[in-house]
Amino acid sequence: MNFYQKHILPKVINFACSTGQMKKVRARTIPMASGEVLEIGFGSGLNLPFYQAGNVKRFVAVEPDPGMRKLAEKRMVEADFDCEVLGLKAETIPLDDGCMDTVVVTFSLCSIADTAQAMAEIRRVIKPDGRLIFAEHGLAPDARIAKWQHRIEPFWKPVGGGCHLTRKPVEIIAGGGFSPEQVEADYLPKIPKFSGYVSFGYASPA
Ligand SMILES: C[S@@+](CC[C@H](N)C(=O)[O-])C[C@H]1O[C@@H](n2cnc3c(N)ncnc32)[C@H](O)[C@@H]1O
Repeated sequence: MNFYQKHILPKVINFACSTGQMKKVRARTIPMASGEVLEIGFGSGLNLPFYQAGNVKRFVAVEPDPGMRKLAEKRMVEADFDCEVLGLKAETIPLDDGCMDTVVVTFSLCSIADTAQAMAEIRRVIKPDGRLIFAEHGLAPDARIAKWQHRIEPFWKPVGGGCHLTRKPVEIIAGGGFSPEQVEADYLPKIPKFSGYVSFGYASPA
């Protein structure tokens, strides 16, 4: 990890993910979480205030970046439930098969190196009647914007912590053995269109 990745990037990501528009998406999705909850790519814990504490029986998260975990500490203390945050990647989740009621992934499928392996792990640990709640940015449906996303992506990834602009999150989720049940997708207002096309909702194990 270089100086930028260690000291600056976590603060940049925390700031970029704190916009009012993203809060609105979090408010539409995170309250659906219940029971034993696993969050993938916990980041700085920006989803924590949106959980319905009374519905969360157990909360576990994976977040490999120590700088992000450090930024999450205050929000973890303020949360109305205990948070267990593991310094691990989603590609290897140390949980039993079929033990989680809810898996949450927000604005992280863009950054996970091996999404197929991460989705296989999510599919393995979720209960057959569990729910995968997601909110992810990705490839825009407009050809002109998509063209710019492809152009910008090689420069964006190194400064954005490996963030891809051209992934198709709903396809990744469906390809990982889930049936998207409820999906909304649109450009978030006040966010540049190249990074602001967001799909959110939930999916069930297929
Ligand atoms: C843009 S941030 C989003 C953080 C948070 N989910 C949110 O909604 O604010 C992406 C996060 O994914 C994490 N990440 C990157 N690779 C990962 C992996 N292989 N497994 C789990 N998390 C990963 C990053 O460290 C970062 O904290």
